Amino acid sequence: MTDLNGARILVTGGAGFIGSYIVDQALEAGAAHVAVVDDFVRGRPENLAGARATGRVEMLEGDICDAALIDGLTEGRDIVFHQAALRITQCAEQPLRAVQVMINGTQTVIEAAVRHKVSRVIAASSASVYGEPSYFPIDEAHPFNNRTLYGAAKVANEQILRSYNEMYGMDYVMLRYFNAYGPRMDIYGVYTEVIARWLDRLDRGEAPVIFGDGQQSMDMVYVGDIARANILAAQSDVTDDVFNVGSATETTLRQLCELLLDLTGHADLAPLHEPERKVNPVRRRLSSIDRIRAKLGYEPKTTLREGLQAVIEWRKASLCVS
Ligand SMILES: NC(=O)c1ccc[n+]([C@@H]2O[C@H](COP(=O)([O-])OP(=O)(O)OC[C@H]3O[C@@H](n4cnc5c(N)ncnc54)[C@H](O)[C@@H]3O)[C@@H](O)[C@H]2O)c1
Repeated sequence: MTDLNGARILVTGGAGFIGSYIVDQALEAGAAHVAVVDDFVRGRPENLAGARATGRVEMLEGDICDAALIDGLTEGRDIVFHQAALRITQCAEQPLRAVQVMINGTQTVIEAAVRHKVSRVIAASSASVYGEPSYFPIDEAHPFNNRTLYGAAKVANEQILRSYNEMYGMDYVMLRYFNAYGPRMDIYGVYTEVIARWLDRLDRGEAPVIFGDGQQSMDMVYVGDIARANILAAQSDVTDDVFNVGSATETTLRQLCELLLDLTGHADLAPLHEPERKVNPVRRRLSSIDRIRAKLGYEPKTTLREGLQAVIEWRKASLCVS
C-alpha cells in the first residue's frame, strides 16, 4: 500500500475538470507537494484556487510533449496522475495534434516516470474505448468497438502502459471513466453539455429541449467519485490493470431532464422534443463496476440528485462572478 501522506505528486492536466479534483483529494490525503502541468487549452487556474491556497501546489503552464519540462517535473515524484488529453471533438478536428498529445505526450510522461523510478502511474482512459456497446452492463472484457480517434488514442495508451509494465516493470493502473459531471465540468462536452444547455433555457423560463425520444442514456459519475477512484488506485498495490469508473446506473436524457426540472423548481415545464441530431456517438451507456469494487474498494458515493444540486450551485456562483 502506497501512503499518500508526505508523497510528492505530479498531475498532468491538473488544472482541468477531473485533474483539479485529484489535486484537491491528493492534498486531503496528505500529499506534501503537488506539481501540476497544464497548457490551459481547457484547464483554468481558478480550478486550483483552493488547492494553491494550501501552499503545497505548484502550477506550471506547459505541454506534456515538452520532454525536458516533463523530465524535470517528474524527478523526485512518487506518483504521477496522467489526465492531460484533448477532448473528443478536438481530436476529430485536429488529428495530427491529437496523436501528438494523446499518444506521444503520454509516452513522454511515462518515459520520464520510468527514468525517475516513480512508484506508480495512474492514468485516464475512457468508456469511449467500448464504442457502441455489444452488451450491458459494460464490463472491462467488453470489446473495443470504438470508431473515434480519441478512443483509439485511449486504447493505444492502455497498450503502451501495459508494454512499459512488461519492459520496465512500471506499476500503473488505468481508469476508464464513464460520463463525468460535477462543478468545474466542461459545458461544451459531447455528452454532458446538455445539462448546461437546459439550465440556460430554464434561467430564461423556457422549457428544455430534448433531441430525439429522450431514451438515449448515460452512466453519469460524479467527479469527486472519479477522483477518489484515482486516489484508491494510487494507494493500492494493484498494478497492470484497467478498471471502469462509473455509477453502474443508466440515466436517460428524459430522467436527467426531469430531475433538473425538479431541482430548479420548474416541475411545471414539460420538456419539448425535437428531431434527434447525431451528436452523441453512442446511444446507451451502463457500466459494470464489479471489478473496481472488488479490487480497489471503490463505491460511487454521490447520488445524481446531490451531484446535480452541486452543479446548479456552482453554476450560479460562477455566473455571479463573471
Ligand atoms: N470528462 C469526461 O467525461 C471524461 C470521460 C472519460 C475520460 N476522460 C478523460 O479524463 C481526463 C481528464 O478529462 P477532463 O474531463 O478533466 O477534461 P479537461 O479538458 O478538463 O482536462 C484535461 C486537461 O488537460 C490539459 N491539456 C490538454 N492538452 C495538454 C497538453 N498538451 N499539455 C498539458 N496539458 C494539456 C487541458 O488544458 C485540461 O486542463 C482526460 O484524459 C479525459 O480524456 C474524461
